[in-house]
Amino acid sequence: MGQTLTEKILDDHLVDGELVPGEEIGIEIDQALTQDTTGTLVWLQFEALDLEEAQTELAAQYCDHQTYQFDFKNTDDHRFLRSAAGKYGAYFSRPGNGICHQVHKEHFAKPGKTMLGSDSHTPTPGGLGELAIGAGGLDLAVAMGGGAYYIEMPEIVNVRLEGELPSWATAKDVILELLRRLTVKGGVGKVLEFSGPGVESLTVPERTTITNMGTELGATTSIFPTDEETKDYLERLGRGEDYVEIGPDEDAEYADQITVDLSDLEPLIATPSMPDNIVPVREVAGEDVEQVIIGSCTNGAYEDILPSAKMLEGREIDPTTEMIVAPGSKQASEMLAREGWASEMMAAGVNFSESTCGACIGIGHVPASDSVSLRTFNRNFEGRSGLEDDKVYLCSPEVATAAAIAGEIVDPRDLADELGMDDPGFELPEEYYGADTDIIEPENAVDDELIKGPNIGEVPLKDPMDERLEGSALLKMDDNITTDHIIPATQDILMYRSNVPKLSEFTLSRVDETFADRALEADGGFLVAGENYGQGSSREHAALCPMYLGVEGVLAQSFARIHKANLFNFGLLPLEIDEETYEKIEQGDDIEIVEDVAGAVRSGAEEFTVRVNDEWEATATLDASDREREILADGGKLPHTKMKYADA
Ligand code: F3S
Repeated sequence: MGQTLTEKILDDHLVDGELVPGEEIGIEIDQALTQDTTGTLVWLQFEALDLEEAQTELAAQYCDHQTYQFDFKNTDDHRFLRSAAGKYGAYFSRPGNGICHQVHKEHFAKPGKTMLGSDSHTPTPGGLGELAIGAGGLDLAVAMGGGAYYIEMPEIVNVRLEGELPSWATAKDVILELLRRLTVKGGVGKVLEFSGPGVESLTVPERTTITNMGTELGATTSIFPTDEETKDYLERLGRGEDYVEIGPDEDAEYADQITVDLSDLEPLIATPSMPDNIVPVREVAGEDVEQVIIGSCTNGAYEDILPSAKMLEGREIDPTTEMIVAPGSKQASEMLAREGWASEMMAAGVNFSESTCGACIGIGHVPASDSVSLRTFNRNFEGRSGLEDDKVYLCSPEVATAAAIAGEIVDPRDLADELGMDDPGFELPEEYYGADTDIIEPENAVDDELIKGPNIGEVPLKDPMDERLEGSALLKMDDNITTDHIIPATQDILMYRSNVPKLSEFTLSRVDETFADRALEADGGFLVAGENYGQGSSREHAALCPMYLGVEGVLAQSFARIHKANLFNFGLLPLEIDEETYEKIEQGDDIEIVEDVAGAVRSGAEEFTVRVNDEWEATATLDASDREREILADGGKLPHTKMKYADA
């Protein structure tokens, strides 16, 4: 039987396991990507591994999420990241140089390579045939140290594209159509592999808009085969030598197939506040719009902004609407400026922002209360704009620009008829150029030692697990505790991600303000929770901070999958209990695990005896792979990896 493209790349990089869906596999990583809000911890973890240099073919550090440098802590973080890139041999993209996925696509992404990134939209370069996966920072640090990345082998789903996009329909509408059909859960545990005659009608940047938002479907990653378009795009970037032809075998078998006829598509829009609330634009036409933003890692490229510039040439935006353009990279900004398009847009009333994530994570350009904001971004979760009950719609640059001209949501086909406006089309520049000074290459690094300002802490390391595990039930919680409950992601504490002792003061403060102090004082203990403990994001601090405070384990009725993996990674024992036990345990009870815990974890024991207040006992279960058991017993992935490197 032939192989899919995904299987071919995985096979080339496989170091452990077999390519059977659901089985754990280990793969070698070629490229590593990290950004500023996750990068500080990644490099502190890398430092804790005592390694000399990043072992991947390429590592790149970007400063894009928090570039405004509100106070010295942000600036110190950027300086630390520059020094870490210099010391450990990574490329450093300076603050303001652009959004990681856009800059990586322009400079480094290569067909057939594997990439791991500590950002959820890492799959973006799948549009040019790279197999790119988002992961936690510790997984990234280990991969940069030369360790394999472990993942459950996903199912490979074929998305077959037929036909060609009609006038005013765009690549954004392709992914919005997939979100309409599959919802935000439709891609979980899957890789979406694109094929079919419609592929060749899409340029690479259009393909990367689609692979970028595969993340919103929950997919592990998304990937396109390479072809003449890929070769042409790499040549325009001046990187023609990076081209390789890759694709699936003709007799490749997929777990499922979805067909999208591009010629059936029309301008679509995601209404508040989920990326899968999709309707045709014409159904919400007439809604007043106070703000329009073009940018982000989805639609921030030069060629994404060009159609908007053409639509605005000789026109003005409506006086009731504010329009902001935040190009995805400084290269895009420079090219728009040098070719006169930036001045054309400014004359129409557009404000330009620096190349940053900014508004996409609620940093700047917060909408007015009770107003509609149209954005070309990938997420519109409630409150993400910085306004609690915001009304953010997601759409293509063409739909956003039409709204800025009309002052209300309008189907661009109707506006075109009214104004005699042509479809600007989607065009690539002859060649890409500019912003050459903003990436510091490893060989030209300006630092060779780490520079740590007062806000940069150390990464706490846990000792190997003890035979005896006892302590009190520090906190009893309900069902569905999220990672936001455990460690909030609000702007006021975002800056402490590189300072674990300080950040830990906020642990579970939304549930109990006294928790951090009590946990430190108790020097050990357990958390008790109902169903689905740790749902939400992959935030590692949600396991790291409780570990720093001395928490030894969590007794819950069930765990969210990614958070459970993080508990293993930071050496916290995740035990499942039944409803009766949950009901019976009270906050403050003394808890003891009766077995030799370290020995039982290593030997594969699934059942553990929990003794409460020396009065009653219950059975708790541990569901873990052999690899997870070793990590847990060694005190977490960092000490585990350190031991492995020391033994090697
Ligand atoms: Fe940045 Fe938003 Fe993309 S935060 S990486 S522009 S999803």
